[in-house]
Amino acid sequence: MNRDVEITTPAALPEETSTEAVLRPSRLDEFVGQHQVRASLQIAIDAAKQRHEALDHVLFFGPPGLGKTTLALLMAREMGVQCRTTSGPVLERPGDLVGLLTALGDGDILFIDEIHRLRPQLEEFLYPAMEDFHVDVRLSDGPHAQTLPMSIARFTLIGATTRFGLLTPPMRARFGLVERLSFYPTDDLNSIVLRSAGVLNVPIDGAGAAEIAKRSRGTPRVANRLLRRVRDFAEVRADGRITGDVAIAALERLNVDEFGLDDMDTRILSTIIEKFDGGPVGLGTIAASVGEDPATLEEVYEPYLMQQGFLERTARGRMATRNAYKRLGLTPTRRDESQPSLLDE
Ligand SMILES: Nc1ncnc2c1ncn2[C@@H]1O[C@H](COP(=O)(O)OP(=O)(O)O)[C@@H](O)[C@H]1O
Ligand SMILES: [Mg+2]
Repeated sequence: MNRDVEITTPAALPEETSTEAVLRPSRLDEFVGQHQVRASLQIAIDAAKQRHEALDHVLFFGPPGLGKTTLALLMAREMGVQCRTTSGPVLERPGDLVGLLTALGDGDILFIDEIHRLRPQLEEFLYPAMEDFHVDVRLSDGPHAQTLPMSIARFTLIGATTRFGLLTPPMRARFGLVERLSFYPTDDLNSIVLRSAGVLNVPIDGAGAAEIAKRSRGTPRVANRLLRRVRDFAEVRADGRITGDVAIAALERLNVDEFGLDDMDTRILSTIIEKFDGGPVGLGTIAASVGEDPATLEEVYEPYLMQQGFLERTARGRMATRNAYKRLGLTPTRRDESQPSLLDE
C-alpha cells in the first residue's frame, strides 16, 4: 500500500508515519492495555465534562512507541475539542508559542511532544499560560522591553517525553496528571497485532500473531513495524498468509531474536562484555563503540534491555548482567568472580 509515498521519498519514515496514522486507534476503548493509565484518564475526562471545564494539564512519559501521541489525540477526541500539535525542538522563540496559544479555543488541547527539549526561555513563558491562562508578550527587545499581558483560552497542555528526568521540577509540578506508560505484556501486543492485521487486511493466524507479539520489545510501534515486514515476506515467499512458521522465518531474516533483541541490542551487550569486560562503562564510550548516538541508546535501546534484565545502570556506568552473558552464549570472566554481587541476582 501507498507505493507512491515509498517510491518518491527516499527515507523509510513516510511509510512508517502514514501507516502509523492508519493504525492509530480512533477511540479510547480501541486502545489496548495500559489499564491504569486509561482508567485515570477516563475519570479526568468524565469529571472535566461534568464540570464543563478544560481538562487538567497532562504529562505522558515512557519509552518511544508506547502510545503517548495516540493517547493525546484520543483525549482530544473524547473531549470533543481541537488538538494542535508541536514539539519541544521546533519551538524557537516565545513568539512561536504565542501564535499557537492564541489560536486555541476554550478546552482545546495543545500537544507538545518531546517537551523535555523545550528551551528554558519558552518553558518560563509557558508557566503563566498553564497556570493563569495568560502570556506576557514582549513588545520590543532589550533589558527595558515592555511586556503586554494577554489572556488566552482555558486550554489543556498535553506534554509527552521519553526522558522524565530531564524535565525541570517547576514544569513537572504544573501537570495535574502525570502518567507513565510501560512496556506492554505479550498478550496486549498479541491483540495489537491482530487488530492491526485486521485494519491492514493481512491474513494471519494465532501462531503468527504470537511470534510477532513475542518479539516486539514490549512496544506497539515495533509490533506494527514487524507485522508489515512479515507481511512483505509472506507475500513474496509464501502465499501471503502469516502463520507461525512464516513469522519465524521472516523474523530470523530480520535478525530479530526470540526476545525481540535486534542487531544493535546484541552489539551493545557484546561491546560491554567483550571490550569492557562486562562494565561498568560509560554511556558515551558504548555509544562511540557501537556507532550510535548516546541519546538514542539511552532512550530507545537501554530501557528494554534493562527491563529484560540484560543491562544494569550503576553510578559508575553500564554493566552487563549474567543474563546478558547467557544470551550471548558466554561465561562471565575472572574479573566478575571478584565482584560476586554482579552475578548474584
Ligand atoms: N495501546 C495501543 N493500542 C493499539 N495501538 C497502539 C497502542 N499504543 C500505540 N499504538 C500504536 O503504535 C504506534 C506508536 O504509537 P505512538 O502513540 O505514536 O507512540 P509514542 O508517541 O509513545 O512514541 C501507533 O501506530 C499507535 O497507533
Ligand atoms: Mg509520539
